[in-house]
Amino acid sequence: MAATAPRRAGSGPTRRRTLLVINGDEVEARPLPLTGDVTIGRAPGSDVLIDHPSISRTHLVLRLGPDLVEAIDQGGANGTSLRGNRLPARVAVELAANEPLGVGDLTLVVQEVRPIVDSGPGERRPSGEVAAAAGLEPIVRDPVMRQLYELAARVARGTISGLVPGAPGTGKEVLAEFVHRASPRAARPLVRINCAAFADSLVESERFGHERGAVTGAARERRGLLESADGGTVMLDEVGELPLPLQAKLLRVVEERAVLRVGSSSPQPIDVRFIAATNRDLEAEVAAGRFRRDLYFRIAAAVLAIPPLRERPDEIEALARAFAADAAQRLGRSAPPLSAEALAALQRHPWTGNLRELRNTLERAVLLAGDAGITVAELTLSPASAGPRSTAPSAAPPPSTAPATVPTAAAPLPEQLAALERERIVNALAECQGNQTRAAAMLGMPLRTLVKRLTQYGVARPRKR
Ligand SMILES: Nc1ncnc2c1ncn2[C@@H]1O[C@H](COP(=O)(O)OP(=O)(O)OP(=O)(O)O)[C@@H](O)[C@H]1O
Ligand SMILES: [Mg+2]
Repeated sequence: MAATAPRRAGSGPTRRRTLLVINGDEVEARPLPLTGDVTIGRAPGSDVLIDHPSISRTHLVLRLGPDLVEAIDQGGANGTSLRGNRLPARVAVELAANEPLGVGDLTLVVQEVRPIVDSGPGERRPSGEVAAAAGLEPIVRDPVMRQLYELAARVARGTISGLVPGAPGTGKEVLAEFVHRASPRAARPLVRINCAAFADSLVESERFGHERGAVTGAARERRGLLESADGGTVMLDEVGELPLPLQAKLLRVVEERAVLRVGSSSPQPIDVRFIAATNRDLEAEVAAGRFRRDLYFRIAAAVLAIPPLRERPDEIEALARAFAADAAQRLGRSAPPLSAEALAALQRHPWTGNLRELRNTLERAVLLAGDAGITVAELTLSPASAGPRSTAPSAAPPPSTAPATVPTAAAPLPEQLAALERERIVNALAECQGNQTRAAAMLGMPLRTLVKRLTQYGVARPRKR
């Protein structure tokens, strides 16, 4: 059975493991040691004691290795099941990441927090709305991602807090929105709080709410963002950026499920579920004293870690087609075909900017391609591209294949400039997903000028959204 496991639960550097115990809609997180055998059962003295009638006294042993997790059923009445099969007694069977294990009437999931390798600054959007899949249903094809989304659906049922670690652009917001939509809270608000923007006390009071007169200019009592999410979900985005003094406040909110408005002494109870996201290695932040350990354990009860795009190459094609179709639809066109070479180039690209980079690449390609279809030329992937998105004109071919004179170098200056400007405009439009007003602001040009240039350069005008 080990051969069919999509990926070893323990692959990569190991930091921390937890066991999620799922009983219907209740989800509970139990700490696990990094290595060693852990007994699970109803008997007092079990390493993980689960007092449930469907669990045997000694039901299961989890063998935790540095990069391998195995389950060994102990031959009890109700047994253990994995991937729809009952496990043979006393045989070690390897578990994949986030794989649900049926234990009696319960489900157990071994979770692992792996450090994020390529973290970087995230975008700085104001709090409030969740961008999420921007009209797209999440596309999930990779076995590890399937497992992750299945786990997210289970976690969604209860109110356990969740942490979504992942490199920039991997789809943390999309996953957080999925949890909200799959939860009984779906009809209530999903509010995103950008923790990186918690700069001053005014912002702070706006988030938590403030009483009349407590902040200069506060004319009336205002509900904070947290209160406005009552009954729903709060996404704590970029939680790793939250300054320490505010971490203390957030801890109180998370523990007591109540907000204390600035200038008020009576806490307002709130009913929210927290999903935090970060592209930082929070465990390292805790170790460095920059993030409160108690807050970390509060918010990281369930960990939904998203792998980078390069670890899920099976998804690239489906994502690319969906992003191209979406961009084309906004231009009022049919989805342009993707050439086989273009697909191969997409498969080879390192995607350090993850899904966001892929989406921008396809947006740009659709703008450049017209109805004819997307070839390697429209992808404008620079071979050496290490960064998430290159705003420079596409690189010249490698020396071995380059003609004696590079055409752009020989072109007269105004033409070169026009090509450059066209490229900048196309990039900006792609970045802003076809929103011309935002693209114009990004380029620092009036909207009128942008529209004029689009006609001049023969770039199709995206529909107003
Ligand atoms: N499973 C998915 N299916 C389709 N589109 C997705 C999926 N996951 C992410 N995306 C798209 O990829 C882009 C990045 O996703 P998202 O904003 O959720 O990433 P993020 O991890 O929150 O990024 P950042 O770290 O920069 O905040 C968005 O355009 C989003 O719509
Ligand atoms: Mg995000």
